[in-house]
Amino acid sequence: MSETYNSSMTAGTTSPPGSGHVQAAGVSIKDLRKSYGSNEVLKGISLNVEPGQVVCLIGPSGSGKSTLLRCVNLLEKPNEGTIHVGAFEATDPDVDLDRMRRSVGMVFQHFNLFPHLTVLDNCTIAQLKVLKRSAEEARQVAHRNLERVGLGHLAERYPDQLSGGQQQRVAIARSLSMDPQLMLFDEPTSALDPETVGDVLAVMRSLAKDGMTMLVVTHEMGFAREVADRVVFMDGGVVVEEGPAENVISAPTQPRTKEFLRRVLDPTHIEVAE
Ligand SMILES: Nc1ncnc2c1ncn2[C@@H]1O[C@H](COP(=O)(O)OP(=O)(O)OP(=O)(O)O)[C@@H](O)[C@H]1O
Ligand SMILES: [Mg+2]
Repeated sequence: MSETYNSSMTAGTTSPPGSGHVQAAGVSIKDLRKSYGSNEVLKGISLNVEPGQVVCLIGPSGSGKSTLLRCVNLLEKPNEGTIHVGAFEATDPDVDLDRMRRSVGMVFQHFNLFPHLTVLDNCTIAQLKVLKRSAEEARQVAHRNLERVGLGHLAERYPDQLSGGQQQRVAIARSLSMDPQLMLFDEPTSALDPETVGDVLAVMRSLAKDGMTMLVVTHEMGFAREVADRVVFMDGGVVVEEGPAENVISAPTQPRTKEFLRRVLDPTHIEVAE
């Protein structure tokens, strides 16, 4: 396995497992290509996220945003290019898959909690099975992270007794309980009732403040503007434009970015278009 330590990629401080202290890792993606059959979905993507940075990924449906996240998390195998997460090369054929996946947390649009397990057990099961933590330690870590997302009081409930926004916050607590060095979010609020979106975004905002490295696919432009260090606009499998959130969202230079933002930022237009 290539495990060349690169100090610029890893903000390393030691802390006990599950302490809530973030050991953020950077991500470096170079010339990434991914095809499904003859359909090339990622056409040479290069992207850097420094440790502790938040990068929001925006772009039309089908532009390859989810595929990119899935490559970083090794749920998809890229055809070409490299991905480094902290000290590890994710694209190394000999990479320790379990170790890599443990360091990358992923939160999807649909939270995929186990319906037959309590909120607490949803947050301990992977700690017990994958990290081999003791039941007591896993419980403490889960509680700490449920408190962190404001749901400590609901630990004994079952997922179907929670709102969508609460379930998504449990999914975030579950991910945090594995001590990730990087968090990937794929439209975490797009399936939620509008009144629960704010609570999820507030949790993500506080994670960013704590120094977590975050790569976030979202159409929440207010969040991107406020929290993202950079915004990357993708279309047709390439990065069309990227820069500080304020520049890309308020003063895009590329016609495709302008057109996309006009549709996303103007709800009347969306209603008419659909
Ligand atoms: N497993 C797969 N097999 C074949 N084609 C796929 C697969 N996953 C994605 N694709 C195709 O890759 C392209 C990019 O899909 P992707 O889901 O990455 O887009 P996206 O930007 O996340 O879109 P959305 O905003 O709708 O979520 C699409 O044309 C899609 O049909
Ligand atoms: Mg997607």
